[in-house]
Amino acid sequence: MKILLDTANLEDIKRLNDLYPVRGVTTNPTILTRENAESWLDLLKSIDEILSSEQLLFVQVTASNCEEMIKEAEFLVENIRENLYIKIPVIPEGLKTIKKLNGMGINTAATAVFSTQQAVIAANAGAGFIAPYVNRLDNIEADGVGVVRDIAEMFKIHNIKSKIIAASFKNVNQIKECCLAGADTATVSAELYEEAAAHPLTYQAVEQFDADWKSLYGDKFMYQY
Ligand code: E4P
Repeated sequence: MKILLDTANLEDIKRLNDLYPVRGVTTNPTILTRENAESWLDLLKSIDEILSSEQLLFVQVTASNCEEMIKEAEFLVENIRENLYIKIPVIPEGLKTIKKLNGMGINTAATAVFSTQQAVIAANAGAGFIAPYVNRLDNIEADGVGVVRDIAEMFKIHNIKSKIIAASFKNVNQIKECCLAGADTATVSAELYEEAAAHPLTYQAVEQFDADWKSLYGDKFMYQY
C-alpha cells in the first residue's frame, strides 16, 4: 500500500518527503485554508515543486456544479501540472463532472465517499481513485475499514480498475486495517505518518548498538578506519 501525505504544510511535506517514501500529497479546501496562505495557487505550486513528477498530487474543486467544476479542473491542470488528480465530491453534479473529465483525459479522484454504492458509481463514472472517509464513518458508528474492505472486494470481483485511496484517519491502527482490507493507497496526516514509521523499541535497539560499538572502538565512524 502506498502512503501519501494529507497536508498542505510545506515544512512537513519537505521534511517527510526527504525522510520517507512519500508517494504524493492530497489536499482539500479545509487543508489549504489551514495554511492561511495569501495565494492558494502559489502554495499548490510550491507543493508541486517539492514533489517529483512521479509523485501524485491531488487538488479538490470548490465549485458545486459541473460547469464550474470543469472550469476549475482545467485551470488547475493548466496552472499546476498535467498529471494532477482532480478531487471531486460524489454529489450528483460531481459524478457528472467525473464522467466529463474522464472523457477529456483529466485524472479524477472521487472524494467524500461514505458507501460502497457511491464507490461503484464513481468508478463507473471513470474516477481513477475512490476516497472513502474511514474515520468519519467510524465517528457515526459505521465501520470505516469495513466499507474499504467491501469496496476492495467488489472492485476485485468485478475487475474494476479504479484504485482505493483510503482517507480520513485518526490513528495508525486504521491505516493498518485499511492496508489489510485491500486499499491500494492511503493518505494520512504528517503526524500519523511519523507515528506509523516510529517505534520506541527501535530507538532503544539503536542506543544499545551505539553504546556497545563505542565501548570498544570509540567515536570513529567506519569510514574513518
Ligand atoms: C482526503 O482526501 C480527505 O479530504 C481527508 O482525508 C479528510 O480527512 P478528515 O476527515 O480528517 O477531514
